[in-house]
Amino acid sequence: TQAALDHIKSKIREIKDWPKTGVTFRDVCPLFEDPKAFHEAVDFLRDRYSSVQFDIVAGVEARGFVIGSALAYSLGKGFLPLRKEGKLPGPNLSKTYELEYGSSTLEVQNFSSRKGLRVVVVDDLLAKGGTLEAACFLIESCGGTVVEASVLVELSTLGGREVLKGRGWKTFSLLQYD
Ligand code: PRP
Ligand code: HPA
Repeated sequence: TQAALDHIKSKIREIKDWPKTGVTFRDVCPLFEDPKAFHEAVDFLRDRYSSVQFDIVAGVEARGFVIGSALAYSLGKGFLPLRKEGKLPGPNLSKTYELEYGSSTLEVQNFSSRKGLRVVVVDDLLAKGGTLEAACFLIESCGGTVVEASVLVELSTLGGREVLKGRGWKTFSLLQYD
């Protein structure tokens, strides 16, 4: 409902010039902290994917773990972590990407075939799209198929959706900001 969306939105904090000048940071941690807003947000995603055929939720470290694991649990699916470099015992696949404020590397474990696995890829927020592009690339590199990239918040003016679309991946966002 619109009331639930408004409530979720009211829990997202805006911080100007963080982590560097010129970036307006949208902070979803207060949303995670609020039991009602957190429940509402997960329930929106649960309702969206309950009728979709897929096998597993992949979540991006760190805030994608919070929302992704709750979604996976609510739908009775497993969870695949996409972690920042150096955290996972290998063998791993790695992908380096650019952020609004620097660069980073994501990794996925790659010790068994994931051929044919249908994956919903989850993060808290889509900005320029480098993170989810790397995440979806890793899913496909280990044999999976990306069903959809899914976020709570899309910063629409930064063009992430177009980046993912250019690679053939669909995006869903619960809330959009200009
Ligand atoms: C943030 C956010 C997304 C990403 C979005 O994470 O949680 O993962 O940036 O930006 P993009 O669309 O331009 O790639 P961040 O890399 O700051 O890491 P964190 O989760 O460790 O805070
Ligand atoms: N919030 C959280 N993560 C981000 C943002 C933001 O506004 N921009 C790029 N990554």
